[in-house]
Amino acid sequence: MKKNIPQKILHELSRLILTHTGLYFPEKKWNTLSKGIQSVISDLDTDIPQLLQSLHSSPAKEIVDALTTRLTIGETYFLRDKNFFQILQDHILRGIITHPKRRTKKIIFWSAGCASGEEPYSIAILIDQMSLVLKGWDITIIGSDINPIALDKARKGIYSHWSMRGTPEKIIKKYFTPTAKNYFEIAPHIRQMVHFHQLNLMDDNYHESLDFYEAMDIILCRNVLMYFNKQGRNSTIQKLSRLLVENGWLITGPAEAGFVNLPEFTSVRFPNALCHRKGPPRKPIENLNPIRINRRDHSTRPRIPVHSGKKPTDKKYARRITDGKVSPSPEKPKYNMYQEAVTDYKRGDYLQSVKKLLTIVSKGQNNNNSFLMKTESMILLSKAYANIGELDQAKTWCEKAIDTEKLNPELYFLLSTIFQSAGNVDASMKSLKQSIYLDPDFIMAHFTLGMLLLQKNRPVESRKSMNNALSLLEQKDTEEILPYSEGIAAGRLIETIKSMKTN
Ligand SMILES: C[S@@+](CC[C@H](N)C(=O)[O-])C[C@H]1O[C@@H](n2cnc3c(N)ncnc32)[C@H](O)[C@@H]1O
Repeated sequence: MKKNIPQKILHELSRLILTHTGLYFPEKKWNTLSKGIQSVISDLDTDIPQLLQSLHSSPAKEIVDALTTRLTIGETYFLRDKNFFQILQDHILRGIITHPKRRTKKIIFWSAGCASGEEPYSIAILIDQMSLVLKGWDITIIGSDINPIALDKARKGIYSHWSMRGTPEKIIKKYFTPTAKNYFEIAPHIRQMVHFHQLNLMDDNYHESLDFYEAMDIILCRNVLMYFNKQGRNSTIQKLSRLLVENGWLITGPAEAGFVNLPEFTSVRFPNALCHRKGPPRKPIENLNPIRINRRDHSTRPRIPVHSGKKPTDKKYARRITDGKVSPSPEKPKYNMYQEAVTDYKRGDYLQSVKKLLTIVSKGQNNNNSFLMKTESMILLSKAYANIGELDQAKTWCEKAIDTEKLNPELYFLLSTIFQSAGNVDASMKSLKQSIYLDPDFIMAHFTLGMLLLQKNRPVESRKSMNNALSLLEQKDTEEILPYSEGIAAGRLIETIKSMKTN
């Protein structure tokens, strides 16, 4: 039988785990820590005193691996945050490949904290989509993570539909092969573009773990820093900075951009995103057209100082996209229209937003958006129509969006809200069930279904849905804002459901 771990021991464990992995477990997360430690003990067939003893010295790799396997959160999916991938394509990469002083036709990406590989593979897919404009460029993509199990999965390149929830159907068809039991295997040429390594961001010798000695152009460390404390975040950012070329980019998750406040970085504002360019700040926030950046000549790419006697072996990483000549500069992006539509929408000018979005989604328009922002445009169009009460149009565009991303649970949730507004409770419940099928952990879908079942006078089924929502909510921090809840915190929804039960 599992015994509760005393608070004093949890305090000590959290301190030691912070030292060895950077993972920060403040007291409000001790519940999660305790569950994770119980699993670690059973995985290693050990006990708490022995675990503590090894953590007090220099723990064996097996122990750190067991801890990170059980305590890290590997939540990720392909093309997570399409807005960022659009910025990468239209601004960052375009800025690099059109820069007149750029001599080396080489771009090195590093996805630091890549979990099961969806992020570096998404970069590889984007690069493949851009192969015409990247003719003649060597592209290297490295993925690293501390969690060995996640990396095994990454190397296999086989994913469930959950990893594909934000992936357009077109991309799934082009780059994945369905395998048994509804899994998808990534195309071999995409898999070969990414090199995976185990690396602890708390360690100092990154280049040795990566077996790579050139400075990087673009480092993605997205949704990783949020699990560290301030000291861990700052030391990680400092170390990442050292591995970047001058004018290289550090990309964090949207909620983490504020963590990067070291003087060596300049914050660069893009549409709905803040990225960080290594280089002296010219003004506090650069409102950027990256092509105009006065970049240094990159003809001599710096090497990372090597302190060990190891010989650099990075040649094996390079992958030439094609041996052809460098193609002419890519066309200037027409991405702004989507951003303008978002601004109109946020201002409440739904008609203007609809007008622009219709232009974007109409055939043949905005070709360079068709891969990344097409579904986003349809979603916004559906929402804009819903806001002006045109529910038929809202439904039509939501269904069109579903046609482009059939595995996206959020789209079915949106459809359910449209049906609800139209008073069609049965259809709304059907859509909610679809979204729960695609994402069994979708708390707001369980809760809304529970409410609708209550409305339909089906209290037993309603209670079941509410209980599903409750058990998912109990795994959350009470202050965590729930997605698709319009700002409701987990703790508040727990109270609401409990008070409904007592009434
Ligand atoms: C939420 S995932 C982020 C995946 C991906 N970057 C994304 O945004 O979708 C966080 C990842 O950070 C990794 N991580 C946590 N601590 C780490 C450390 N000290 N060194 C390297 N990776 C770490 C975890 O193992 C996990 O896979």
